Amino acid sequence: MKVLETDRLNLRWLSPDDGEFMLELLNDPSWLEFIGDRGVRTVEGAREYILNGPVEMYKRLGFGLFLTERKADGVPVGICGLIKRDSLEDVDIGYAFLPQFWGNGYAYESATATLAHGRTVLGFDRIVAITSSNNQKSARLLEKLGLKFEKMIRFSDDAEELRLYGSDK
Ligand SMILES: CC(C)(COP(=O)(O)OP(=O)(O)OC[C@H]1O[C@@H](n2cnc3c(N)ncnc32)[C@H](O)[C@@H]1OP(=O)(O)O)[C@@H](O)C(=O)NCCC(=O)NCCS
Repeated sequence: MKVLETDRLNLRWLSPDDGEFMLELLNDPSWLEFIGDRGVRTVEGAREYILNGPVEMYKRLGFGLFLTERKADGVPVGICGLIKRDSLEDVDIGYAFLPQFWGNGYAYESATATLAHGRTVLGFDRIVAITSSNNQKSARLLEKLGLKFEKMIRFSDDAEELRLYGSDK
């Protein structure tokens, strides 16, 4: 299902048919470094990840991480969307793009549309984001989007310290 359209991109629900793309994204060195190793090594595993993660969230909450496709040729370039985690009070924005598509403003374009959708359609007054402290590209994007650094947080005593950004309506 298509959720959002921007000048150059369509954002739509992920489906198990996106397994190959998701397998590549989940094992990209940038995902492993800045998001974490989900231990998914096969297309079948990626299909299960899509079903148990994003698809489960669409069904339960009506939103989640969406596939971002280039309109011109239908090529999947990344994912972007809103996530509700048990560990955070507020909904957070998440995104990841394959490196060959960085540097085109695709993340900015899809995140801008995602934030607007979160605020106006889904009605969230506050949307946050979390990043590793050394993820400079992500920090730059969040600042361009108008989110402000608030504080460092940890999900558990032995977990990595993360930067929390926030944006009120
Ligand atoms: C974080 C991430 C999404 C940023 O991607 P990105 O392509 O750098 O981000 P943007 O869409 O904002 O693009 C900005 C770049 O595109 C350039 N650009 C080109 N055309 C543009 C356009 N039409 N509009 C805006 N920027 C444009 C900008 O000048 C900028 O270039 P620079 O990096 O050389 O300064 C990407 O690095 C990524 O996927 N990382 C791995 C996953 C990850 O860390 N996720 C976040 C976890 S918190």
